[in-house]
Amino acid sequence: MLEAIEGLRVLVTGGAGFIGSHTCDYLLEHGAEILVLDHPDGRNLANLAHLNGRQLEVEGRDVTEEGNLMWAVGAFRPDAIIHLAALVSVQESIDNPALNFKRNVEATHLLIDAVRQHRVGRIVYASSAAVYGEPQKLPVSENAEKKPMSPYGAAKLASEYLLAAASRCYGFSCISYRYFNVFGARQDPGSPYSGVISIFLKQFAAGRPVTIFGDGSQTRDFIYVKDVARANALAASAPLEGPHSMNLCRGQAISLARLVGEFQRHFPGAPAPCYEPFRPGDILHSEGDPRLVKRKLGYSALTPLEEGLDQFIHSAVIASP
Ligand code: UD1
Repeated sequence: MLEAIEGLRVLVTGGAGFIGSHTCDYLLEHGAEILVLDHPDGRNLANLAHLNGRQLEVEGRDVTEEGNLMWAVGAFRPDAIIHLAALVSVQESIDNPALNFKRNVEATHLLIDAVRQHRVGRIVYASSAAVYGEPQKLPVSENAEKKPMSPYGAAKLASEYLLAAASRCYGFSCISYRYFNVFGARQDPGSPYSGVISIFLKQFAAGRPVTIFGDGSQTRDFIYVKDVARANALAASAPLEGPHSMNLCRGQAISLARLVGEFQRHFPGAPAPCYEPFRPGDILHSEGDPRLVKRKLGYSALTPLEEGLDQFIHSAVIASP
């Protein structure tokens, strides 16, 4: 299905961010034309600097401001929209639920309005495994109980429902991906709530000890960002009708203790980890069932964790010699 990307016009909101910039890389490599909408402050633009001169336009406009999405969709006339612009921190959604609502729910409504007005055929939406909360059964499949534990998870689920209903009313197709733990280059390690792999890499590279919250027995289903980028591009171009919600994961979880072991292989002689109590609200185990996306789109995540880590560590070492 990837040949369908050639010449496809794709609007990528949040296209200069961590997952967005890799999605743009993949789309451009396969011949798509892209308009990116990202923060007007341009704080992520360095993530797209290597794409100068390609079939890519970038507009610094806030998707939550009324009129911006309508303008972008009307001016660019995309075949598909990949909607990644969001408030991405679970903790920030707890501290600032109003901002979470604006970025993760209202923006979805504005997007639907623009899609309806300009008759776009396909939306790909970045949802999250956070819609499930603490899973009752592993691996968690799409029809498991949804019990979000944060305003972030609730907003992602609300957006999935808004998109699904709009898809049925207005006739566009929509794929909501429930991302599990995504990792790779360009993920910001700057806050304590950044992805654990980006934080661990920063600490190991600086020769500082990492902190493990709990005893290291918690498990996560980590998926490499380039696999996520490929899934986004596939969803933008696949011949599917109606609304779909699908897990995006590898279907294999590893413990934090083992993850630390993987880093120690790359950084022999690194200081031993420090231990602190489990974070309140932390989920103990998370592992997704990847079979639905395989069945519907023929997609599987191809990068083993060890290989993704190798690539990520290598890219970070090259970026800061
Ligand atoms: C992740 C997502 C979140 C999503 C949730 C869905 C990220 C950054 N967050 O949260 O958006 O809602 O999955 O289930 O991808 N840890 C340490 N030391 C550190 C940092 C973290 O021990 O320095 C631990 C955490 O306590 C946690 C595990 O590592 O047990 C993973 O943490 P994190 O990468 O923040 O992701 P999730 O909590 O799984």
